[in-house]
Amino acid sequence: MSKLPFNQGQPQFIPLTSFIRYPEAEMLARSQAFYADIKRRKTIREFSAQPVPRQVIENCLLTAGAAPSGANHQPWYFVVVADPSLKKQIRAGAEAEEREFYQHRAPREWKDALAPLGTDADKAFLEIAPYLIAIFGQKKTVLDDGSEIKNYYVPESVSIATGFLISALHHSGLATLTHTPSPMNFLNQLLDRPQHEKPYILLVVGYPAENCMVPNIGKKTLADIASFL
Ligand SMILES: Cc1cc2nc3c(=O)[nH]c(=O)nc-3n(C[C@H](O)[C@H](O)[C@H](O)COP(=O)(O)O)c2cc1C
Repeated sequence: MSKLPFNQGQPQFIPLTSFIRYPEAEMLARSQAFYADIKRRKTIREFSAQPVPRQVIENCLLTAGAAPSGANHQPWYFVVVADPSLKKQIRAGAEAEEREFYQHRAPREWKDALAPLGTDADKAFLEIAPYLIAIFGQKKTVLDDGSEIKNYYVPESVSIATGFLISALHHSGLATLTHTPSPMNFLNQLLDRPQHEKPYILLVVGYPAENCMVPNIGKKTLADIASFL
């Protein structure tokens, strides 16, 4: 039976040396500081064309790749697009789907839900932002010898890795838009990805445009989102 190169066949264990046990006061301070930093994150839709250091993106992708995944199969693939002509084609593909969505496919309820965000079918930011990161989930992994291995919990794993990526980009000083033109299959063709990979998200990455505006929206309270039993 084929094995993924990063997963050993037999259980093999090594000591956990990376865990840090903080004093409780420090844990509290760290949790507050992390929340305060994450709370500043806002989805933006007005990007600057200013370039972003590629190594920052690489570090953030490594952070995404450090996410947990079903059976450690790491069923994700990230295509980073900076090439202007490719970005132009992606914009054309996304706008075609979005026009169809806004004019025909979107039910009234969905359009009403989007109203506070002020979004429309124009996606100029796809050409303006320095980087687009197309995030794919892999239903199976194809090894170099052509053999195939099924992947598990793909949407869950890809979503967690994407959360790591968005947080890492924000932490590094960048802004993002989680874009989901639907359907997104045009990305497989444009970015030359196989059919067993499903595009989940097109993450737009860069600095905010000068005087960037964002929707005035809020978040649920702790009581709304959690209970302690
Ligand atoms: C799965 C997912 C899909 C989204 N798709 C789009 C999209 O296609 N276009 C868009 O403008 N925003 C999109 N968003 C961004 C949301 O509208 C945004 O996260 C939400 O309004 C909350 O704002 P915040 O990110 O600033 O907290 C998406 C977000 C998620 C998580």
